[in-house]
Amino acid sequence: MAKFKIETWGCQMNEYDSQKMVGLLKQDGFVQTESEEEADIFILNTCSVREKAVHKIHSRIGVIKKRYKGQKIVGICGCVASQEGRALMEKIPYLKFVLGTRSTHLITEAVNRALNGSKFLDSNDHKAEMDAPITFAERAGHTKAYISIIEGCDNFCTYCIVPFTRGREHSRPLSIILDEVKDAVEVKGIHEIELLGQNVNSYAFEGKTFADVLEAVSNLQGVYRIRFLTSHPKDFNENLVRVIAAHDNICPTIHLPMQSGSDRILKKMGRKYTRSEYLDKIRMIRDILPESWISSDFIVGFPGENEKDFLDTMDVIQSVRYDNLYSFKYSPRPHTAALKLKDPLVPDSIASNRLSILQHTQEEIQMNKHMSMVGHEYTVLVESLSKKNPKLLTGRTEGNHVVHFEAGRGRQLIGKLVDVRIETVTMASLKASLI
Ligand code: 5AD
Ligand code: SF4
Repeated sequence: MAKFKIETWGCQMNEYDSQKMVGLLKQDGFVQTESEEEADIFILNTCSVREKAVHKIHSRIGVIKKRYKGQKIVGICGCVASQEGRALMEKIPYLKFVLGTRSTHLITEAVNRALNGSKFLDSNDHKAEMDAPITFAERAGHTKAYISIIEGCDNFCTYCIVPFTRGREHSRPLSIILDEVKDAVEVKGIHEIELLGQNVNSYAFEGKTFADVLEAVSNLQGVYRIRFLTSHPKDFNENLVRVIAAHDNICPTIHLPMQSGSDRILKKMGRKYTRSEYLDKIRMIRDILPESWISSDFIVGFPGENEKDFLDTMDVIQSVRYDNLYSFKYSPRPHTAALKLKDPLVPDSIASNRLSILQHTQEEIQMNKHMSMVGHEYTVLVESLSKKNPKLLTGRTEGNHVVHFEAGRGRQLIGKLVDVRIETVTMASLKASLI
C-alpha cells in the first residue's frame, strides 16, 4: 500500500486537521511514514498567516521536486491552499492536489486520484462535514486531544488573512463536541482536552455560549484538564472567568492576544478594544483567579507604528508581566485592509530592533517568573519521555510550563497526573523531582 508523509505548519487547528487526515488515510489502508525516502505521497498542511511561512512552503515543494526528480506525489492542504486555490495549481503544475481548510475530509479521494494520474482541487465551504462527528482523528501517541468547537473568523482585524483562509465563523453542535470528548476520554484514554477556535468566545449554537461548552465538557467523567484557544479580548468576559474559577479541571491558563499597547495602532488594526479596556480585563482575571497564567500575542512594526506606540506596547509588557508571549514583525498579507492604509511602512531594521527589545524584555520577565517557581509544588500531566534525554519524563503544568523530571516508574506515568517540586529552571523549561 502507498505510504504518505504529512508535514504540518502553523497553528493547533492545522495540527488537528492533519490528525484528521492521518486518521482517514489509515482507515483506507494507507501507511504513514516519517521517512522522506519511503514516502510515495507528501501532504503539506500549510500556514499563510505571515509571508515567511508561505515562502517556506514554496521552497519545500522545490526541494522535494529536485531531490526526488518528480517521482513523489505532492499535495497541499490548509491555509495556503484556501488562499491560492486554482492559481496555486497553475503556478506549480507539479502539485497533484490542493485542498482548502474546509475540504480536508476529501484527502482520501485526492490521494486516490493522484495515484491514478489525475489532479484534484477543492476549496469549497463544506459546512455539513464540519458538523459530523470526528472520532477518526489520529490520537495515538498524544496525551491531549484537540477538539474544534468553532471554525473561521468574522473579526477581520486589518492585518489578518485568517478570515480569508478559514472562512466565516461556524460553531459546531454542542452534542457533537461532547461525543468527541467522550470518545477521546473513554475510547482513546486521553484526559486532557484542548478546545479550538479562531475565536472561541464567539461560540454560538442554539443559544449555547462558550461558557456553556466549557461547563458541559468540564462535567464529563475522566476529563482531567481543559484548555482553550484563542480568545478575543473584546469578547472575553467575567462570566467566563467565573466558570473557569468554579471548575477545578478548567486550566486557569488564558491566551489573550493584545497585538499592540497603543490605542492609535489598535484602532488601525480594527481590534475593537482600547488599551485600558484590555488592562481592565487582565485585572478582572487576576482578581477572580489569582492563580492564573496569562499569555499574549504582539505585532511590532504595524504601518504607522512610531516610537511612542512601541513604548506603549513595552509599557504593557512590563506592567502585565505575561507568563508567555508570542511576538511577530508585521507581515503584509493579501486581501487584508491594512494594505490600503496610507500610513508609512516601518523599515524592516526598525521593526527587527523593536522585536528584539520586546523579546529580550520578555525573556527576563519569564526567567524571573520561572525562578519564583523553584521549591514550589505543581501538578504535571505527563506527556512523553524527554526527546533529549530518555531517562527523563516530560509533562506540563496547568500553566503550560514544560517540566522534565527523573522517569522513576517510567512510561507507565505517561498520560497521568503527578506532583513534582521544581528544582532548577531555564527560560524554556523547568527541571523537577517527583514528590
Ligand atoms: N503579521 C504579523 N503577525 C500576524 N499575526 C496575524 N497576522 C499577522 C500579520 N499579518 C499574528 C497575530 C495573531 C497570531 C496568530 O499571528 O499576533 O494573534
Ligand atoms: Fe485574525 Fe483577528 Fe480573527 Fe484573530 S480575531 S483570526 S487576529 S482576524
